Amino acid sequence: MAGYSDVVEGAQWGDEGKGKLIDMRLDTGNYSIVGRYGGGPNAGHTLSVNGHIIATHGLPSGVFHPKIHLYIGAGCVINPEKLVAEIKEVESLGVSLEERLHISPFATLIQPHHLLTDSMYGGHLGTTGNGIGPAYSQRMMRSLGPNLEDLRFAHAIISPHQARDIVKSNLGHCVSECLNPIKNHPNAHQMQKIFDLFNNDPTQKYLSSLARLGKYLERDPLFLTKQIESGKNVLFEGAQGFMIDVVYGNTPFTTSSSTIAAGAYTGGDLSNKYHRKTMAVVKAIPSRVGAGPFVGELGGKKSEEYCAAKDSEGNTKHTKEFEHTTHNPQDLLQSSDQFELGIALRMLGGEYGATTKRPRRVGILDLPQLEYAAKLTGADELFITKMDQVELFNNTLFHGPVMVDTYQINGSKLNTYPITTNELASVTPHSYLNFAATSLPTNATKWSDIPHSLVEFLTAIEDRTGCKVSGIGVGPEREKVIMRG
Ligand code: IMP
Repeated sequence: MAGYSDVVEGAQWGDEGKGKLIDMRLDTGNYSIVGRYGGGPNAGHTLSVNGHIIATHGLPSGVFHPKIHLYIGAGCVINPEKLVAEIKEVESLGVSLEERLHISPFATLIQPHHLLTDSMYGGHLGTTGNGIGPAYSQRMMRSLGPNLEDLRFAHAIISPHQARDIVKSNLGHCVSECLNPIKNHPNAHQMQKIFDLFNNDPTQKYLSSLARLGKYLERDPLFLTKQIESGKNVLFEGAQGFMIDVVYGNTPFTTSSSTIAAGAYTGGDLSNKYHRKTMAVVKAIPSRVGAGPFVGELGGKKSEEYCAAKDSEGNTKHTKEFEHTTHNPQDLLQSSDQFELGIALRMLGGEYGATTKRPRRVGILDLPQLEYAAKLTGADELFITKMDQVELFNNTLFHGPVMVDTYQINGSKLNTYPITTNELASVTPHSYLNFAATSLPTNATKWSDIPHSLVEFLTAIEDRTGCKVSGIGVGPEREKVIMRG
């Protein structure tokens, strides 16, 4: 009997808490392999392991389940230096990746010149600065004459001399093209730092890291297929979220890969024939990092600009440390200013980027957005995280949990999801759903422990998305989960 594959996907803008559901699903013992199908070091899962907090970026988050194999699929982009550093950190905690980590031969490498181009062109989008867009676009362009070549993992491992020539030539070309305009560029400081990093011996560390990854090359392109044929099951973990998918997100404020569940079957090295179900993760108090429309954002444009602000060195200005030394979140919670309420919810919810440390923009759950994401991706069930935080709305100007129910544009109610980024940016909430002030009992462990008003909150999501809520997260610890029967 062949096995199956399931996909866990984020239904918002990323950072929904997918790691928690993945962890729990792996605990069931149903899966032998966890796979990534898109993204790279831009992703971040924060995990707590024996009191040690670690963020995984390129590695699948199932890394601390010692019997589970880890697969990095063709749809991913890899920064060898970062991946080697991550592997070392994980191994320093006594976890071995030998014979467990498999890297697709077809994955694309992020090259040094991609970091330069991302810092030059990605700033206004608020990218993570990891060279993600340039690496993916290089793959699409394949080759630009003798300069600027895409480089796949297997090619680089099997033909290291060719890889060295490609990496050096790409970097040399980019430096000569980029460095003249650098002085006047608003991101000059950041770019200079990256350039200095590679300037002494531009590619040595990069190439030696690449060589260290050689033992993880999966030479059998049918590895996952054969595993499934032998009865094993695969869990794919989506990176980022539906709303920053390169096709269905609000261009240009997206990442550059396919973040939707179907992407598992174009970037995960497995056929869709084995797909069983899609589990979409929704954060009860959503967040977004980087630029782009966010209809439910508390504080709107002001919040977006505040979260993007940088100091003169190009570093994030309103960091976690800054906010915690400047504000008292309990006071701000009662403010009549939605911007201040947003700061309070960010502080109390710990909403700061795992990869970039940026403050996340925080907002109100948005039903039109969830309907768009859940129906277009074909979610079979939903898992709602941070349900314990919903009670924070009790003492706010909303007097209880709240959701955006409908949108308006120029005073007219909208009945379909906006189809351009400009349209979405002009939308404001038309109506809200308000729920009675309520708290989740701290000892709640069963579905029947969930108070009526929170059940109504979940039912409103189910009614709009047509998906059953199969469980909720009620705290940061891994056991803080309530599953439905
Ligand atoms: P890039 O993926 O670094 O090119 O960044 C493009 C956009 O996607 C930016 O707004 C990033 O903040 C956002 N982004 C990328 N990765 C993540 C993630 O893992 N969680 C949330 N947002 C992300």
